[in-house]
Amino acid sequence: MPYTSTQLDAEAHRLYGLLASVSKTRGEKWTLQECAQLAPYTLEINRLKKEKNAAILAHSYTTPDLVYGVADFRGDSFQLAQQARQTTADTIVFAGVWFMAETAKILNPTKQVVIPAGRAGCTLADSMTAADVQKLRAAYPGVPTLCYINSSAEVKAQCDACVTSGNVFDIAQKMPGDKLIFVPDMLMAQNIEIELKRRGTPKEIIASGGSCCVHDKYTQQDVEKLRADHPGIVVLAHPECAPQVCALCDYVGSTKGMADFVARSTATKFGLLTEQGLVNRLEAEHPAKQFFWPFGVCAYMKKNNLLNTLRALVEPRPEQVVQVDGAVAQAAQKSIEKMFELSK
Ligand code: 13P
Ligand code: SF4
Repeated sequence: MPYTSTQLDAEAHRLYGLLASVSKTRGEKWTLQECAQLAPYTLEINRLKKEKNAAILAHSYTTPDLVYGVADFRGDSFQLAQQARQTTADTIVFAGVWFMAETAKILNPTKQVVIPAGRAGCTLADSMTAADVQKLRAAYPGVPTLCYINSSAEVKAQCDACVTSGNVFDIAQKMPGDKLIFVPDMLMAQNIEIELKRRGTPKEIIASGGSCCVHDKYTQQDVEKLRADHPGIVVLAHPECAPQVCALCDYVGSTKGMADFVARSTATKFGLLTEQGLVNRLEAEHPAKQFFWPFGVCAYMKKNNLLNTLRALVEPRPEQVVQVDGAVAQAAQKSIEKMFELSK
């Protein structure tokens, strides 16, 4: 739809107002000119959203043009699952990775759920199959089994409950017995074992799966360098990082946990061992604070963009439409609903 130069100019300034403090590339902030290039797309996406009664949910790791230009809700896996479950929109456009959009469909099956990026993977979700979980459960009969939300619907369907990075330690603590099967994040499993021991409620964690290809790259040297380069810095990490890295940080928590920590902290310099998108969100929301980020980009999250979001709204390609097999969806829904119950 053609827009007037007044509409385009106003939209460019709206976007610039949101993105002026955000890094586009390292050391370079978004410019008004770049925002002007986004304006025709954000105007059209926002118009179509109303016309189609669609809601756009964007994970904080997607790019700032989506997060601030068109998203109705931005957040971490837990917050987005809550939103997907309660939305009254007819269509959910999920800017994230496949397992997140799949979770939205499972929680609200009568809605149309589309994902701009198509089948965008995740090294954790792709590291484990339902058959792997069945084998583990057979080897440890009666042991409660938790899966991280970063897993396929088939894997969730085999587990007692699912968890996110925001509630993993509390839910693990609540599970009965002194043993726990945890899939598919091997590093998070080590972090659970350490945290439960610290809380005085130790459990043996039987873990299988893989790791996050973004968070598993951080080392103790990255933390030491941040501290040496920026005296007084407060260093934050995601629990998908290795335990020896987490041990050197000032705070370890989910994407939302880190954002909340920064919001309530009186510190002015933060080191972030997490994905670029969260760094960009914090730059947008706390322009007076300084953020230092060694590296870390999730190529899967970055497959979402304004063009494929527009396409998903106008006429989604088959790979953008999320479907989950009925029996698998029902069993996976139980495990996700159990998480909501246990995280109260
Ligand atoms: P959050 O739930 O903290 O957003 O984690 C999801 C994720 O994929 C982190 O890599
Ligand atoms: Fe998966 Fe890691 Fe990307 Fe999160 S950042 S979606 S865990 S690959």
